[in-house]
Amino acid sequence: MTDRPLTDGAVTVIRAGYGFDAPAIELGALVNGAAMADVPIRIPLAMMNRHGLVAGATGTGKTKTLQLLAEQLSTAGVPVFAADIKGDLSGIASPGVSSAALLERASSVGQHWTATGSPTEYFTLGGLGTGIPIRATVRGFGPLLLSKVLGLNATQESSLGLVFHYAEAAGLPLVGLDDLRAVLMHLISEQGKAELTELGGLSRATTAVILRELVGFSDQGADVFFGEPAIDVRTFLRTAPDGVRGMVSLLEVPSVQDKPELFSTFLMWLLRELYAVLPEVGDADKPELVFFFDEAHLLFAGASKDFLQIVTQTVRLIRSKGVGIFFVTQTPKDVPGDVLAQLGSRVQHQLRTHTPDDARALKATVSTYPVSAYDLAQVLQNLPTGEAIVTVMNEKGAPSPVAWTRMRVPQSSMSPTSPDARAAAVSASPLLAEFDRPVPSTSARDILAQREAAAEAAARAAADQGAEKGRTEKRRTDERGTEKPRTEKPERPRRTGRASPRRSDTIARRIIGKLFGSTR
Ligand SMILES: Nc1ncnc2c1ncn2[C@@H]1O[C@H](COP(=O)(O)OP(=O)(O)O)[C@@H](O)[C@H]1O
Ligand SMILES: [Mg+2]
Repeated sequence: MTDRPLTDGAVTVIRAGYGFDAPAIELGALVNGAAMADVPIRIPLAMMNRHGLVAGATGTGKTKTLQLLAEQLSTAGVPVFAADIKGDLSGIASPGVSSAALLERASSVGQHWTATGSPTEYFTLGGLGTGIPIRATVRGFGPLLLSKVLGLNATQESSLGLVFHYAEAAGLPLVGLDDLRAVLMHLISEQGKAELTELGGLSRATTAVILRELVGFSDQGADVFFGEPAIDVRTFLRTAPDGVRGMVSLLEVPSVQDKPELFSTFLMWLLRELYAVLPEVGDADKPELVFFFDEAHLLFAGASKDFLQIVTQTVRLIRSKGVGIFFVTQTPKDVPGDVLAQLGSRVQHQLRTHTPDDARALKATVSTYPVSAYDLAQVLQNLPTGEAIVTVMNEKGAPSPVAWTRMRVPQSSMSPTSPDARAAAVSASPLLAEFDRPVPSTSARDILAQREAAAEAAARAAADQGAEKGRTEKRRTDERGTEKPRTEKPERPRRTGRASPRRSDTIARRIIGKLFGSTR
């Protein structure tokens, strides 16, 4: 590799390739030996809904790139949603701290650096942690995404679809996981036998397997993510109180390692919801929302064909609603080809090749770039931190020339915003009252409990009547005998409301135990 990989002619082509007039997100400056402050590398703002990929090994600058993109979007009035896996994105809320090295880097790429924080709102899944709780109803989440988090196979997945269908038709609202549990238990109980048969295509054994997975899922603490009030995804489309900047919504996911599938599936659900509620906007000057999908490999790992199809379809269609998605992963091979093909802009940080598999991935990555003057396999392995190989979708929708880029410096803080500042922001948020409150509702579990109680009462009444009749007859035939005092059966405690989820767990375990001989 020479010190300056590009000829003057190649530099001229790149300069022209990024010289569009339309408003743009500034990524940084071309590197040709040294950074060239007069050759800026940018993404047209109007193309931010054509999706993108930020990839690179750990510590190569992905999160800073994300921060850089997000804060400029906010400044341009575009709301941003991002999952903040380790809390390292929260710095976006606070102004950055200047230093000589930082200012030198900024000036080398032609950036006038001013410490600026972005208006930020914090969210959490189900309210675990510091943030506005994001919840979904089981019904809203749907059988396909739920199958993904439960790890169901194709047969079980379609069975779960039938169960949802049944619940809908039987007027049993699936709100929390306990509602689904109650419906499954009902279907494999004596009372539900006829309904199960009537459904067709749904075996008792499969229903029990789903129930078992569901109980395991609840045991991991997943109950809190499902319920009401469900988040209204339009919440993420707000501008800041200043009426100008787009709001940055950060979803805190500190314990994602425990529940990777739940986390990634939830993000997918959010995208589907956005797709469902947003109007068509066609090609606009700027997107309605840009969604950053960090640790995106979690979404695709072990996904079923149907699930992948959903992801691919959502990615393809959502851009007409003005929503851009940026996937952030270690290597592009984490993203299926069908999805990768739809990502218009790419910021590829250093790729490491430790294994033959890595080497193959590198080769594959290189082959997906437009022809360029670079020896990309070589450059990609040697990029310094905070530099990347970039190609974007230009204002005409064509790929821009491949450019080795030194990224700008985020104007917000490189270190996380303090927990105190985050907690203060959350308690001051008007959203807290809206989404952090109990919602009284009657759902499947309550309805089934009521029906069960009514059936029990009816059975008891019938039994009592029978006994009374027997006694009367006995009295008649044995007029002079000694009458024994009547002994009442003690009333069974009745299940009411959603007060004791543990009890239905125990019942579920007993049923599963009966069917399988043991419980997990
Ligand atoms: N654009 C940048 N400007 C200044 N420093 C950067 C930039 N990108 C990365 N760095 C430095 O590299 C470190 C690691 O970057 P980070 O984005 O956290 O990596 P990754 O997310 O890929 O693990 C940062 O803490 C910062 O010191
Ligand atoms: Mg990171």
